[in-house]
Amino acid sequence: MQEKISNIKALAINDINLAKDLKELFDVKVKYLGKNGSVTELMKGMKDIPKEDRPQFGKIVNDLRVEIENEFNAREVVLKEEERLKTFEKEAIDITLPGKSNEIGSLHPITLVKNELINAFLGLGFEIFEGPEIEEDYYNFKMLNIPEDHPARDMQDTFYFNPNILLRTQTSAGQVRVMLDKKPPIKVLSPGKVYRSDDDASHSPMFHQMEGLVVDKGITLCDLKGTLDEFVKIIFGKDTKTRLRPSYFPFTEPSVEVDVSCSECHGKGCKLCKGTGWIEILGAGIVNKKVLEGCGIDPEVYSGYAFGMGIERIAILKYKIPDIRLFFENDVRFLKQFK
Ligand code: DAH
Repeated sequence: MQEKISNIKALAINDINLAKDLKELFDVKVKYLGKNGSVTELMKGMKDIPKEDRPQFGKIVNDLRVEIENEFNAREVVLKEEERLKTFEKEAIDITLPGKSNEIGSLHPITLVKNELINAFLGLGFEIFEGPEIEEDYYNFKMLNIPEDHPARDMQDTFYFNPNILLRTQTSAGQVRVMLDKKPPIKVLSPGKVYRSDDDASHSPMFHQMEGLVVDKGITLCDLKGTLDEFVKIIFGKDTKTRLRPSYFPFTEPSVEVDVSCSECHGKGCKLCKGTGWIEILGAGIVNKKVLEGCGIDPEVYSGYAFGMGIERIAILKYKIPDIRLFFENDVRFLKQFK
């Protein structure tokens, strides 16, 4: 009997140590300690043992059971740890893989330049006024000294809804609204979309302008030049020079065209400035007395200056963009460059 017990014990310990995982270990447990397991079978043999030997027999078999159980528990601890490590390995995150970043959008280059222009002027004490894009002929033309049949209307091919309502062709329309609404001193900046029936590499049917208007006592062309000088240095760099050339706009008298020294050749003459050393950036002038009068401002007491620039034009010069249409095709490869 002793030999049988030793045999079972040796076999059980061998099986336990061969078990490769918890599942196999559990099968081994059933094989020896289960309902029909070898140890349980031994116990069942009790009935064939003489009565007086039974207590001793019971103790021996029980000791065997405890020993096998201890072996089993020890092996279980080892296998559990092995499985835990295997899971770690399987579920490990490779931190060397490149991450998936969330792409964040960015401001459109026109918005960027618009904000830059606004910031430059806010620093010079201007307030913002935004007029309507669907505008009346009255504000867009008539009150700006551009009556019907005036040749200046041909300069701006207009989208009309009816003879009185149109898409504004210039942010100058906002000047009239401001002057009718406010008494001087006036110092406003008016950015926004404008529309003209025009479409090529340097014209878009919708584009952006930035208008400026200052009305107060004793305003002269010198104030205009000083302000624009300052502004140009902020936007194009402090070595940039400004030049005023005589021009014509019905709502300003005198009118000027404002040029900046070419950032590419610094005045020597190149392709960008068409050999002149200068680049035109905006129209401006002293507000025409007729416009002031029309808005109920006494031109004997007050005077003003105004200017208007194309935001796309400034962006094109600043970033050397070859075609205005790039701004509106919204190709992400183009837009991404302005982050
Ligand atoms: N409104 C003009 C245009 O669209 C630009 C302009 C010129 C605005 C002279 C002004 C100005 O305020 O004084 O071409």
